Amino acid sequence: MTANGVHPLVAQARQAFAARFGRPPRFGAGAPGRVNLIGEHTDYNDGFVMPLAIDRYTVIVAAIASDNRSSIFARDLDRVETVDLTALLTAIPGSFANYVLAVVEQFQKRGVPIANLDLLITGNLPRGSGLSSSASLEVAVATLLEQVHAAALPPLPPLDKALLCQVAEQQFVGVPCGIMDMFIISVAQPDTAMLIDCRSLQHELVPFPTPDEAALLIFDTGVERSLRSGEYAKRRQVCAAAAQRLGVPSLRDANIAQVIESPALDDDERRKALHVVSENARVLDAAAALRAGDFARLGELMFQSHGSLRDLYDVSIDELNLLVDLAHAARDRNGDVWGARLTGAGFGGCAIVLCRPEARQRVAAELSEKFTDRFGRAPGVFPAKAVAGAQSVHLV
Ligand code: GLA
Repeated sequence: MTANGVHPLVAQARQAFAARFGRPPRFGAGAPGRVNLIGEHTDYNDGFVMPLAIDRYTVIVAAIASDNRSSIFARDLDRVETVDLTALLTAIPGSFANYVLAVVEQFQKRGVPIANLDLLITGNLPRGSGLSSSASLEVAVATLLEQVHAAALPPLPPLDKALLCQVAEQQFVGVPCGIMDMFIISVAQPDTAMLIDCRSLQHELVPFPTPDEAALLIFDTGVERSLRSGEYAKRRQVCAAAAQRLGVPSLRDANIAQVIESPALDDDERRKALHVVSENARVLDAAAALRAGDFARLGELMFQSHGSLRDLYDVSIDELNLLVDLAHAARDRNGDVWGARLTGAGFGGCAIVLCRPEARQRVAAELSEKFTDRFGRAPGVFPAKAVAGAQSVHLV
C-alpha cells in the first residue's frame, strides 16, 4: 500500500477510535476495492476474469473489548451494532455489520477462540458502487482477525483468505457471489492486473500501465446496486441451466457454435450463454493485448464487453450506457479514449474508462458535463491505480 493510500486513513481511524472508545486501538488492517478490467459474470461459470485492486480502501482498527460485547462502529455511516462475537451469530436484518459477523463466523468454525473487540470501520471506497466495498470489508475483517488471533492461527495464505470470505458472504449474507472480488482484494500485487482462471484458481500477474502511460478513470453513476435484489442470483441460475442443457459441466466448457446451434436452449439461455462464452475469449485476448501494451486492442475489447453485457446479459443501465457511448465517441473523434465499460455486476455502480494520460482532464470533464446535462446530477469521477491486496497494519 502506498503512503498516500492507506496510511492517512489509518491515522484518522486511530484518532476516531481513541475519541470514541477512550483508549488507543491495538490492531489494524486495510483492504482495497477493485475494478474489473474485463471478464464480467464469468467467475461463477468457471471462466476468466482480469481485475485489479485500486487505491481506495476499507480500514479497520480495533482493541480487545472491556466487557463481553463487541461494539462494531461504522464511522462513515455513523452506525454502531453491539454483538457478542463469542456467541452463535445471527444476521442483523439490513445491517452493515453482517459482513463482519459473516467472517467472524468462519473463524469460529475453524476453531479460533474469537475475542470480543471494539472495532472502528472507515475508508474512502464508495459503498454499493460496484467497487466491491463488501468484499473489501470482509477481507479487511479477516486480515484483522489474523492479527488479533495470530497465536491461535497461522496467517492464512491469501487465496485461502479469499475462499473463506466467499463462503462467509454466500452463507451468512446470502449472496451467491463468485470468487473474483475476494481473490483480487486478497492476492493483488502493486502495478499489476491479474488474469484469474476461476476454475483452477491459478492466476497470472499482468503488468498494468502507470498513470503516465495510461489513465484509468472511474465514473460512479450514483445508482446504488445491491446483489441481494435477486437479479444476480437469477443470472447465475440461467447460466447453470444453460450449461446443463448443453451437457457441459459449466459454460466455461461450451463454445460459440454449440451455443448458437443447440436446440436445447431457450432464447434467454442462449443470450446469456453467448455473453459468457464470448466474454471468456475476450479476457484472454485482453490479457494478451495488455502484455503487449496494445491499449487500442484492449480498449476495443472493453467496448465489446460492455455491448455484450448491455445487449445479451441485460445488466446495464442508461447511466452506464451513456458514459460508455460518450467514451466511444471520444475514441472515434480524436483517439483520447482507448476503451470503456461497466465494471462489476452492473445494475448500477461504476463505469471505467481507459484513456490517454494527457487527455484525462478533458475526458473527465466532457463525460461529467454530458452526464449531468442528461441526468441532472454529476457522476463521481476519480482516477485509480493498481495497488497491493489487503495488509495488516501494525499499530504498536
Ligand atoms: C459481483 C460478484 C463477482 C462477479 C461480478 C460480476 O462483483 O461479487 O463474483 O460475479 O459481480 O462479474
